[in-house]
Amino acid sequence: MPYYRRIGEIPPKRHTQFRQPDGSLYAEELMGVEGFSSDSSLLYHRFLPTAITGSDVFTPPQPLTREANLPLKPRHLSTHKLDVDGADPILGRQHLLANEDCRISYAVADRPSPLYRNAIGDECVYVESGSARVETSFGALEIGQGDYLIVPTSTTHRIVPTGDAPLRTLVVEATGHITPPKRYLSVRGQLLEHAPYCERDIRGPEEPLLVDGEDVEVLVQHRIRGGIGWTKFTYANHPFDVVGWDGHLYPWVFNIADFEPITGRVHQPPPVHQTFEGPNFVICSFVPRKVDYHELAIPVPYNHHNVDSDEVLFYTGGNYEARKGSGIGQGSISLHPSGFTHGPQPGAAERAIGIDYFDELAVMVDTFRPLDLCDAGLRCEDPGYAWTWARKSG
Ligand SMILES: [Fe+2]
Repeated sequence: MPYYRRIGEIPPKRHTQFRQPDGSLYAEELMGVEGFSSDSSLLYHRFLPTAITGSDVFTPPQPLTREANLPLKPRHLSTHKLDVDGADPILGRQHLLANEDCRISYAVADRPSPLYRNAIGDECVYVESGSARVETSFGALEIGQGDYLIVPTSTTHRIVPTGDAPLRTLVVEATGHITPPKRYLSVRGQLLEHAPYCERDIRGPEEPLLVDGEDVEVLVQHRIRGGIGWTKFTYANHPFDVVGWDGHLYPWVFNIADFEPITGRVHQPPPVHQTFEGPNFVICSFVPRKVDYHELAIPVPYNHHNVDSDEVLFYTGGNYEARKGSGIGQGSISLHPSGFTHGPQPGAAERAIGIDYFDELAVMVDTFRPLDLCDAGLRCEDPGYAWTWARKSG
């Protein structure tokens, strides 16, 4: 994250003696990205963070499968058809779409996840509904509807649903790091005045989280040649043993309701909605907003062919004006791939004239490499979507 945070007890000088009440040294750990050349944090553990007593291959319950979008078609995935009983927010992730840069999944969860970390890249967890407590070695975070949770690579954590309703999440697992867009950051990492959100909108851990325990299992999703591997480590002591840390690297939360929309007299292009960037993809937020106010404006998008991108939209609230008549509803995902010109459904442009406010909420993921369809994506696909632009408008 672009700004410094300091939690719990730390010594005044880094890499110096810092002793526990019994006189022994705390174990200092530097966790950083890009080989000591970018953001990092220094954490102080009660026990050695290196002490493992077991390492076993783990088989996830929902292994990743990928099938090319062939023949090429726009797709509509109805994630709410995927409802399942008895899943957790991490192993219950049902993969929808994937490429080399990111994997997009949906989870409906009612029970705590195991301890887990993703050594392949950062994760962006968007909460469609429900609530949870996210316990990490940096401290705990409460998340709820509309929150984007960014979990840095290799952050040991677990997600514990809270409340009566299940936790519904759309998850983007990156092969690399997820950050605010560079154009919104000063050279020293401050969010600039024209950014649609600022540091005050960001939540981070407030205090250390200490848990006692021995022989604690942690699942690790990690890189292997040609793909993804899973290993179950057993740690001699509970990894939530950090009494303090400071730095720029930590899990954080931003709520979509705090995204300040950028609007104009005529239609603004999708980059104004950009919220995060990842390796070869962007994440954008379409929020309720006043729309185009030129006297002859057409508020819905023009047909467009963004030739280098596959566009994924997750419809998570309100009415999505441009998609009326297509079958798109709450929890739907549209995939508009490169090689296909997409645009509003028939009649949407005429219907939108004179409208001055869109009550819509959607999360968009634009990838620069083509997305494959995963098993769960194919299971919840609406096969008629590709032909909906050819229907007569009603
Ligand atoms: Fe689009």
